[in-house]
Amino acid sequence: MNHRSWTRHARTVAVVAAAGALVAAVLPVLAASAGQTLAQVATARGFHIGTAAGVRTLASSQWRQVADTQFNSVTMGNEGKWDATEPTQGQFDFAAADAIADYAAATGKRLRGHTLVWHSQLPSWVSTDRTAAAQRQVLIDHVTGVAGHFAGDVAQWDVVNEPFNEDGTLRSSVWYTRLGESYIADALTAARAADPAAKLFINDYNVEGVNAKSTGLYNLVQRLQAAGVPIDGVGLQAHLIVGQVPSTLRQNIERFTALGLKVEITELDVRIPLPADTAELTQQAADYRAVVGACAAVAGCTGVTTWGVGEVDSWIPAFFPGYGAALLFDEQWRARPAYTAVVEALGGTATVPAPPPVPSLVSVAAYPFESGLAGWGSRGSEVTTQVTTVAHGGTGSVLSSGRTATWQGPTRPVLDLLAPGKLYTVSAWARTASGTGTARLSMQRQNGTATRYENVSANTAIGTSWTLLRGDYLFLPGATALSVYLETTDTTGDLYLDDVTIETEGPPVSSSASASASASASVSVSPSASRSVSPSASRSVSPSASRSPSASPSQGGPAGCVVRYTTNDWGGGFVGDVTVTNTGAAVNGWTVRWTFAGDQRVNQAWGATVTQAGAAVSATNAAWNGTVGAGAAVNFGFLASYTAGYTGGNARPAAFTFNGTACTVS
Ligand code: XIL
Repeated sequence: MNHRSWTRHARTVAVVAAAGALVAAVLPVLAASAGQTLAQVATARGFHIGTAAGVRTLASSQWRQVADTQFNSVTMGNEGKWDATEPTQGQFDFAAADAIADYAAATGKRLRGHTLVWHSQLPSWVSTDRTAAAQRQVLIDHVTGVAGHFAGDVAQWDVVNEPFNEDGTLRSSVWYTRLGESYIADALTAARAADPAAKLFINDYNVEGVNAKSTGLYNLVQRLQAAGVPIDGVGLQAHLIVGQVPSTLRQNIERFTALGLKVEITELDVRIPLPADTAELTQQAADYRAVVGACAAVAGCTGVTTWGVGEVDSWIPAFFPGYGAALLFDEQWRARPAYTAVVEALGGTATVPAPPPVPSLVSVAAYPFESGLAGWGSRGSEVTTQVTTVAHGGTGSVLSSGRTATWQGPTRPVLDLLAPGKLYTVSAWARTASGTGTARLSMQRQNGTATRYENVSANTAIGTSWTLLRGDYLFLPGATALSVYLETTDTTGDLYLDDVTIETEGPPVSSSASASASASASVSVSPSASRSVSPSASRSVSPSASRSPSASPSQGGPAGCVVRYTTNDWGGGFVGDVTVTNTGAAVNGWTVRWTFAGDQRVNQAWGATVTQAGAAVSATNAAWNGTVGAGAAVNFGFLASYTAGYTGGNARPAAFTFNGTACTVS
């Protein structure tokens, strides 16, 4: 039974609406670079070319502009996994996975489900002590619940993921050790019962060539077929290293299709040791050509999915330190040589697509508290009032007094301001009346009876100065109520709040990319792009949301800058992300400088040109993001390595300057 279809229409409309404004803004660019997209070339020959998608990537207009036009299939990246779909036994949460399914439906893409039974990304309750019979029921209930929810929507399910050891024996997962090989048949049988239309796959890595592991898979599927267990295909993940496509790939594909099975390349990426040079990118193009060509040459090999679109959504830099540049698009969504190779491997002629324009940040709501509370009120028994005794900007702010618990503070409902599936930047200034506490800016999201508390930003707040709380918030679809609130670890102290802003991606910053395109705007747009345009839904945020520059977050604030510096570490390497909010006058061209606390070295950067001398780093704007208006923010990132073992670990730099002005570090 499909538990999704009754709400499906409403959800799809919301996703299309969210896509509307963005797609409308970029149509001229697509028209200019129309030619044949990768998706069109694939569709013309009945082939599937896919990408993994995630709720975060869906929130990026640039990701969507590439994915909308270049791929005709989409796989749930993390959203269909056990930890996302059944975090607590018997309580399913499909908000994130539904967003992927709705995106596929809204853009006419095939949907691959990933993944029902795996040893990884399992919530801990799955592995707690229980009998084999109870464990089997856990598995069957999960497969039935998830596959049933998406019945009719998923073309192929990776029912069992990564069941093998390298030698072709079955991996000692919680499933195999408690249930033996029969868990695989049970999962497939339950999936077939829950969704008779979905093709059922077993998916694994290092099974691309003929080897012990792929032979283990080959023997397993033959045993399943002999026993009458439903099995329709095998997925070859293909997380490859540049120059190392197995020579027996096609032979391996053919031995599986000879069994009457479908084969898909399900998670293709070709990683390169960084920095990637031209020779390596050329070799990578040859590798992509070989993989796609081998699949396309065999009738039963029906599609190739890459594990992401570009550098920004690749899992490689974080999971294989020192490697990257593994996908078809780079950190600025420019096509790599491999793009052309894939189009040609499918018999097309490549027109290299223009990179999507960089979006601006527009104001959705701004609360300067100059007069009145503008919808803000009490959370708990505390009393929220507008005061003019202290202020961050202007002369007014909000005071929360009489607090008796840490969670009490000012709050405001924002459900009608935010569009589901969109990414927002929420910021607020906080201050205690006296004393010190950790101030937290969060969202309370109600989904029917389930309540989620999602932190946006936390920082130390003290009574002598204002502290900026600023963070990204991805608003998942399906909410029935949503409020933003401020709290502090100081249980009873009074708390001030001021200059709250909510921003989101708006139209492109510069029209330079589309200017050259407008001359050929009469060229018809690609079908896959026009499908997702909903003319009546030209806005994705509430009509009352102000886009006017007067809603500047810097109103009355100090001249200068605020830096948010975050890292994603794996020990020895990290991805750095830097956001600078310009709280002074507009600038045209910028340099951000800092000094690393240890021996960190930047290897690669995006959104800025980064140079380093000793520990001193200097990041200068890229061609397209030099102008930063008053109150606007600019973001760039980099990949760095360091020698583990120096004192302090990957400590963050203590100070930053923006065009020579010292910044507040948030
Ligand atoms: C990866 C995701 O891309 C990451 O975001 C996540 O943190 C870990 O899992 N084989 C699989 C995929 O089947 O599900 C994995 O995806 C990559 C390896």
